[in-house]
Amino acid sequence: MTRHLLRDDDLTAAEQDEILDLALALKKDRWKLKPLEGPQTVAVIFDKSSTRTRVSFAVGIADLGGSPLIISTANSQLGGKETPSDTARVLERQVAAIVWRTYAQAGLEEMARGTTVPVVNALSDDFHPCQLLADLLTIREHKGALKGLTLTFFGDGRSNMAHSYILAGVTAGMHVRVTSPESYSPREDVVADADRRAAETGGSVTLYTDPIEAAAGADVIVTDTWVSMGKEEEKIARLRDLGAYKVTQETMALAQPDAIFIHCLPADRGYEVDAEVIDGPQSVVWDEAENRLHAQKALLVWLLRQQ
Ligand code: CP
Ligand code: NVA
Repeated sequence: MTRHLLRDDDLTAAEQDEILDLALALKKDRWKLKPLEGPQTVAVIFDKSSTRTRVSFAVGIADLGGSPLIISTANSQLGGKETPSDTARVLERQVAAIVWRTYAQAGLEEMARGTTVPVVNALSDDFHPCQLLADLLTIREHKGALKGLTLTFFGDGRSNMAHSYILAGVTAGMHVRVTSPESYSPREDVVADADRRAAETGGSVTLYTDPIEAAAGADVIVTDTWVSMGKEEEKIARLRDLGAYKVTQETMALAQPDAIFIHCLPADRGYEVDAEVIDGPQSVVWDEAENRLHAQKALLVWLLRQQ
């Protein structure tokens, strides 16, 4: 049966673990697996800007023996002129998988329903599951096992990144804390889904309005831009509302002495994180950005094996 990665809990705990193991193996031996040899093509579609996702998918698909076809929606028929399912029916006869960065999660769901090839969410308004595979890989490398670790996300709790930390984190058996103003709390249905998953894995999700309480004793400190793509019109309100949730050296001092700092990037130094933190000794953001490559290669290998 065709498998897709549209949101983080599309993977069971065992599947997530298997993909992370494969990512580590591919990181050690980069050209070990060539499932796309031919070359077969993978379509990588962007409705929004990208540096890391574009580069890591293009390089990763080439590493796997394939050929990346990068499509910008601005000059394709997708995006108002043709439906996701019609687009998928055209692409599936020519490509091995479809990777799509878009706005609405519903578009990805429609694309996946309408096709026989794997569809990968390369960021939507609601989730960024590829980033989470890279982040979990990074945390594993720096901290050993994931199960039982406490990770605190600061800032926009209703963002794609917060939702993905909640779902992927509890799947890995982590204790995920999200600290945000009440009006930026994570979606209730996402928290409910995470609670169900947490009951199977021993993880947990807890929401805090107090950033000091949320930072106490954490193993991993995380934040993301306060103004996600598509939210630019809310910029002034967001900078005002989220100001108390900036990650500073004081925040890091409240966490475990060996806590790490991660950020999916791009970062706005001085807003969601101070330069002293992101450029400091506890930051592992460059490992995290590199791990996009290894994690997504593992994901593609795994999805193609399920076909
Ligand atoms: N972290 C991330 O997805 O970066 P890009 O927007 O540059 O792809
Ligand atoms: N939350 C950010 C992530 C960017 C990789 C956004 O959606 O813009």
